Amino acid sequence: MSQTSARVAMVSGASRGIGAAIATRLAAAGWTLSLGMRTPRPGEGFVHAYDADAPDAEAEWVAATIERFGRIDALVCNAGVAMQKSVVEATDADMAAMLQVNVLAPQRLARAAWPYLTASGRGRVAIISSLSGLRVASANSSAYAMTKFAATALAHGLRHAGWDQGVRATAICPGFVATDMAMAATDTDPALMTQPDEVARLVELVLDLPNTASVPQIGVNWRVEGQF
Ligand SMILES: NC(=O)c1ccc[n+]([C@@H]2O[C@H](COP(=O)([O-])OP(=O)(O)OC[C@H]3O[C@@H](n4cnc5c(N)ncnc54)[C@H](OP(=O)(O)O)[C@@H]3O)[C@@H](O)[C@H]2O)c1
Repeated sequence: MSQTSARVAMVSGASRGIGAAIATRLAAAGWTLSLGMRTPRPGEGFVHAYDADAPDAEAEWVAATIERFGRIDALVCNAGVAMQKSVVEATDADMAAMLQVNVLAPQRLARAAWPYLTASGRGRVAIISSLSGLRVASANSSAYAMTKFAATALAHGLRHAGWDQGVRATAICPGFVATDMAMAATDTDPALMTQPDEVARLVELVLDLPNTASVPQIGVNWRVEGQF
């Protein structure tokens, strides 16, 4: 195992949507990338199979990243799933499916990458949560919001846990972003929504800021609503 000199970032769900935009932007900014995809295909870096529903997937992807690069400086937990169900309609199986990808898998990833993030001295974690992780806007989005509030809490927990070792964690919390996920939830014109690369710019920023400028969470919206 040799150690690369460029900082290494892992990005989950890099196949499309926000994750693909983050990979493109971080690659252009000079990051070395380890991209997790359910169905691996050529990407802007090292691509590894990553399915949040598969046993030991997080430990295997982290081990493969270390084998390849010898270091991990940033973790972008982006893979996620949504469903249009209220907290009354969602079954145990619905909740388990969303919690698995949106909450438990990112926590497992952070645990697996932790020794390397802390060794970096300026480890970074970006959890792609949602405005639905900061407020509940409708009944239809409320089951998803339960999981995204937990994802926001994960980011804040990691910020506390890694502070003394230089780890800075941020919950990135967008409203509708023009991807397949939003298109399945609304008939709003995607041109009006936040664009995937605009979220990627925020991720690049929080990964790049020094330890003395920690950003706990960022709410970003395509429209105006109350405090967001
Ligand atoms: N779009 C929005 O309006 C919006 C707003 C706020 C927050 N977000 C959050 O942003 C993140 C990215 O969403 P997106 O809008 O880019 O959605 P998307 O276009 O539907 O993409 C979802 C990504 O997650 C991956 N994924 C889904 N289930 C997975 C699993 N079991 N294991 C590994 N990867 C899995 C998908 O992989 P495959 O290609 O293999 O399916 C895909 O790469 C999510 O966490 C989402 O909750 C989205």
